Amino acid sequence: MSSDPNSDQNLDYNSGKTSVVDMHDAVKRERVLMPAGKEQMGMLAMVLCAMILICGGIVLGNSNGFKDSIYAHDGYVPEPRPGEGGDAAAEDNSPWIDKWMKGGKKVYQNCKLCHQDSGMGAPGQYPPLAGSEWVDGGTKRVGAILINGINGPFTVAGQSYNQLMPAWSALNDEKLAQVATYIRRTYGALPEGDDGVVTAEMMKAAREEFGGKGIWDEAGLLAIPEDAMLEGAKVDLLTGEPVQ
Ligand code: HEC
Repeated sequence: MSSDPNSDQNLDYNSGKTSVVDMHDAVKRERVLMPAGKEQMGMLAMVLCAMILICGGIVLGNSNGFKDSIYAHDGYVPEPRPGEGGDAAAEDNSPWIDKWMKGGKKVYQNCKLCHQDSGMGAPGQYPPLAGSEWVDGGTKRVGAILINGINGPFTVAGQSYNQLMPAWSALNDEKLAQVATYIRRTYGALPEGDDGVVTAEMMKAAREEFGGKGIWDEAGLLAIPEDAMLEGAKVDLLTGEPVQ
């Protein structure tokens, strides 16, 4: 037996013998290994996790994260949803001048056929508004031109033009005022302190003064002083309300 190399093992496969005592010693000595994923969690790790959860909960609870007060404070009025009578809220709240210029840009659709989007006109045919002394000057000349139109020959920025500038008196005072504002603010090099605005009241004054005069020639327009302004109150660019 002593010559058998497996003699000191618990299970002797060759002889079929098992040492029961040795086997129980091993079971007592060694911890049972649970299958992977089913191991027990250490007590310390469990306590740590619990503490983190509790502390986290306290911090979050004390923060503003769960309080509606950051959204709904005193005097808070929710915006009406669009489509639920909220259309009024979608009303344009931009400054008055932006709306006025928008209106002017619309009316300018009538002018760009000749004067172009760029305001540069067409060489030899239609004069530019950009760099024109007629646009840069006072509002009286611009108003007069819009109400009655011009019959060439007509000099703009040193160039002579000989076409017809139609009268726009069929447009109402507001539209004429908007387009006059638009060309002055967009293309004009305005005198110091001039915000470029022409109001409906000013255009009304132009209509009253020049209405019956018929189409202008150059001499007629030159007789209006270059810096003459139309009568009417200046307005606040934010509200459109008269100032002074
Ligand atoms: C059919 C072409 C045509 C249209 C459209 C037209 N204009 Fe003119 N405009 C002219 C011509 C041409 C002159 C130069 C005078 C002439 O030759 O009779 C002129 C001159 C002017 C002038 C003075 C000269 C200058 O260049 O500054 C102003 C200001 C002006 N137009 C503004 C307007 C505005 C604003 C509109 C639109 C509401 C308009 N025009 C639409 C052809 C046109």
